[in-house]
Amino acid sequence: MSTVLDPIAQEGIHRIEWARRHMGVMEAIRAEFEKDKPFSGIKVGMALHVEAKTAALALAIQAGGAEVRLASCNPDSTDDRVAAALNLHYGLETFAKKGETTEEYYRNLNNVLDLGPDYVIDDGCDLVFLAHQDRKDALPNIKGGCEETTTGIVRLKAMSADGALTFPMMDVNDAKMKHLFDNRYGTGQSTFDGLMHATNLLIAGKNVVVAGYGWCGRGIAMRANGLGANVIVTEVDPVKAIEARLDGYQVMPMEEAVSIADFVLTATGMTKILDARQIPRLKDGAVLANAGHFDNEIWKPDLEAAATKVEPVREGVTGYTLKDGRTVYLVASGRLVNLASGQGHPVEIMDMSFAIQALSLRWLVEKGGKASVEAGVITVPDEIDERVARIKLQTLGITIDSLSAEQVSYGSEWRHGT
Ligand SMILES: NC(=O)c1ccc[n+]([C@@H]2O[C@H](COP(=O)([O-])OP(=O)(O)OC[C@H]3O[C@@H](n4cnc5c(N)ncnc54)[C@H](O)[C@@H]3O)[C@@H](O)[C@H]2O)c1
Repeated sequence: MSTVLDPIAQEGIHRIEWARRHMGVMEAIRAEFEKDKPFSGIKVGMALHVEAKTAALALAIQAGGAEVRLASCNPDSTDDRVAAALNLHYGLETFAKKGETTEEYYRNLNNVLDLGPDYVIDDGCDLVFLAHQDRKDALPNIKGGCEETTTGIVRLKAMSADGALTFPMMDVNDAKMKHLFDNRYGTGQSTFDGLMHATNLLIAGKNVVVAGYGWCGRGIAMRANGLGANVIVTEVDPVKAIEARLDGYQVMPMEEAVSIADFVLTATGMTKILDARQIPRLKDGAVLANAGHFDNEIWKPDLEAAATKVEPVREGVTGYTLKDGRTVYLVASGRLVNLASGQGHPVEIMDMSFAIQALSLRWLVEKGGKASVEAGVITVPDEIDERVARIKLQTLGITIDSLSAEQVSYGSEWRHGT
């Protein structure tokens, strides 16, 4: 480890240590890993957003005895300061930089697979997909892994249904302590962190269109409302549409919503949410941003085709001047706005998400991975959720009641009446 570091790596250390200081759950788990060494002799390949909170997870796994390699799961979300600090100070091999070309992105994922990982941690399923598609040489050694996000789980389930997935993948996303807080409160807050940082525009009094009222969309709508916006939701699921209406928002088709939208924020995990069908109806000056995993929700080829001029107007904001003179603005090239233009989820949120990651990995390793767990998408056991919740409560200084013996037996008795 070098003692004199360049200022970029030094700032990365500060960011990582700041995050760790506010990640009480992860620190408790790291201390436990340091003592028990559950990952001794194991290689772990990770593809996650390379930023300070991810560093805390990677370092905890390293402290548990694993050899770890890390790449980014998104070409635009890397914090170069953190990547430099991991490489130069913490001895954790990291292959990532902000603004990777597609070629660099896949080269970095390949570097992770070159390690010959026993286990993988993925966010969006690109690493697992690569291993099954072009890097079949890595497959025999991979015993299992964990997936972070909704889009990755959708892809893994499709792979599994086709009989293509060759090892078990823990469904971290659907653990309660992950999506209830990360997707909702994390995306809710950090989407506006990114959006406001990129544009410096006021949210209050504006029409904010939120596409998708899933976990992320609910959080984005809630925060837009809190900031004083008029919130409009678009959905395809009738139940979610009613939920959005009863939560107090307007609900309408995207084609109608775009004509009054000051901001359009997509969070569906689906493709072509805003494309040639709606572009002609966008208001002059509308700002478009995406919080879903891939940059295909706002369909850039259609924006480019409709534009006479495409130019950067601020850091991270591209202006598209359309044939009739209107200009619309795309933030972060349509990539995850909260990571590409902001700092990602708040630290305390990722503390819970990554605690689920860390304990799920330990659970799978202790089971022996694919030797005893069937290939497919594996539900995180309830005891992991409960354990993370209890440690989190401790870090918050909150105690709660517990059921008395009488209440426990009441809860399992069906013979009592009024
Ligand atoms: N930005 C982040 O940091 C972050 C964090 C977590 C998840 N994600 C990603 O965000 C996306 C959404 O995740 P989620 O957990 O909210 O998923 P979810 O499944 O809970 O919600 C998605 C919603 O989008 C709706 N939808 C689908 N197609 C639509 C369409 N054409 N128009 C309108 N609505 C449509 C669905 O009905 C659903 O209600 C995923 O890609 C996920 O990976 C991003």
